[in-house]
Amino acid sequence: MSEPATAPQRIGRYLVESEVGRGAMGLIYKARDPVIGRVVAIKLVSTELLDSAERAEFLRRFEHEVQAAGRCSHPNIVAVYDYALHEGHPFLVMEFVEGTSLKEALRNGLRPSIAEAAALVQAILSALTCAHANGVVHRDIKPANILLSRTGVTKVADFGISRIEGSEVTQVGEVIGTPNYMSPEQCLGERVDSRADLFSTGALFYELLTGRRPYEGRSVVEVTRKIVDAPPPILPDTVLAAAPGLAAVIARSLARRREDRFPNATAMAEALSTAVLSAGEDGTIVAARPAAPVLAPVFAEDTLNRLAHRLTSYVGPIAPRLVASAARGAGNLEALCDSLARNIGEESERLRFRQDVLRETSAALRTASLGNSSVASHAGSMPSSLTSRLPPEALAAATAALMTHLGPIARILVQREGAVTTSAEDLWSRLALRITDPSERNTFLRKRPGR
Ligand SMILES: Nc1ncnc2c1ncn2[C@@H]1O[C@H](COP(=O)(O)OP(=O)(O)OP(=O)(O)O)[C@@H](O)[C@H]1O
Ligand SMILES: [Mg+2]
Repeated sequence: MSEPATAPQRIGRYLVESEVGRGAMGLIYKARDPVIGRVVAIKLVSTELLDSAERAEFLRRFEHEVQAAGRCSHPNIVAVYDYALHEGHPFLVMEFVEGTSLKEALRNGLRPSIAEAAALVQAILSALTCAHANGVVHRDIKPANILLSRTGVTKVADFGISRIEGSEVTQVGEVIGTPNYMSPEQCLGERVDSRADLFSTGALFYELLTGRRPYEGRSVVEVTRKIVDAPPPILPDTVLAAAPGLAAVIARSLARRREDRFPNATAMAEALSTAVLSAGEDGTIVAARPAAPVLAPVFAEDTLNRLAHRLTSYVGPIAPRLVASAARGAGNLEALCDSLARNIGEESERLRFRQDVLRETSAALRTASLGNSSVASHAGSMPSSLTSRLPPEALAAATAALMTHLGPIARILVQREGAVTTSAEDLWSRLALRITDPSERNTFLRKRPGR
């Protein structure tokens, strides 16, 4: 959209506080409703590039979709409060979600476990069940439209309004939007029903499980061609080993023909629960991620806990997930701290977070009276509450053996399991459970000392 030089002070009766984001249709503002006294989010849509006939048609459809979305009242749906025109442009007033979008969280390194990914998708499916029952098809389920609130609630935004067919308005401004999650029928310009949303949710789930979008390409045309023509993506062995039932859930939700997909969101939710319930252990994908650089230090558990605790006051309960994900890619505590700070919206708050973490870390080091200056620069040596009663040589042998199968995460696992057992034999048995491939597990167990 052609942007105003500065944000308007008022949109309708709402007092604008700041710009919080922008998409293909226009800008999102944080504002205050002076009558009710609550904070709201306003989506101001630019229609200035449309001629008058197109504009009238767009406004008619937009209003119709907003009215439909307004009928959906559900904890996992961003509530719609109001709709009007500002200087001729339509604007939508909705619940302001304090937190971050899933797109932002993924960009900042969020790598959920299978259980976490499934919980997120269940929330989306619950929202879709409500919307579909009200005759509303979302048409644009994608990470940017999934908001993660500070209080830990997943909320789906933009029901029905992102892709209003036949309108050029979504092409105004940046780009038409990502087609990576679009169903084949949308790519082909065919009629769309609720099963299009199930396809997009399947595509999003695939990304949460693997860290990759199912259909990637260098251009909109290439991605679209893959969605319509390429064989459906297959989940990596590591995910399948942890939860074999997920293969069928992904395959069915990404079926090319909508008749072959789940008939509705509830059916997909049930299949997903069954697949995850039958998954082993805590469903954590240990080896599914690309291995971290070999030299990456392993952060002590209590360091990560402290960071998560502190970050929670800025971003809410998603903090532990962000910390766990960022810790896999960060080379040292400072880099980890920087990466986490990127999840905090306000610059002054980001600064405060960094200062607090560094102050807290030095205090912890003083308390631990280690008197070893190298500790400060090596997060892996941070004082840990996970101390083991096993001799260091036993831990080192287990770490070295496990490392060849799982990479650097071996250190964390040995630290974690070593803290809850006093027998080296038990330690090796516990660690073996972390190796999903049976022949690799046997190879590991053959290296157990004393065999
Ligand atoms: N209700 C809301 N509360 C808080 N932030 C929001 C809300 N709605 C949107 N945002 C923020 O604004 C950003 C832009 O949203 P917008 O819907 O304009 O574009 P998009 O979803 O990223 O892309 P597209 O225009 O293709 O749908 C979102 O990614 C999100 O960070
Ligand atoms: Mg959006």
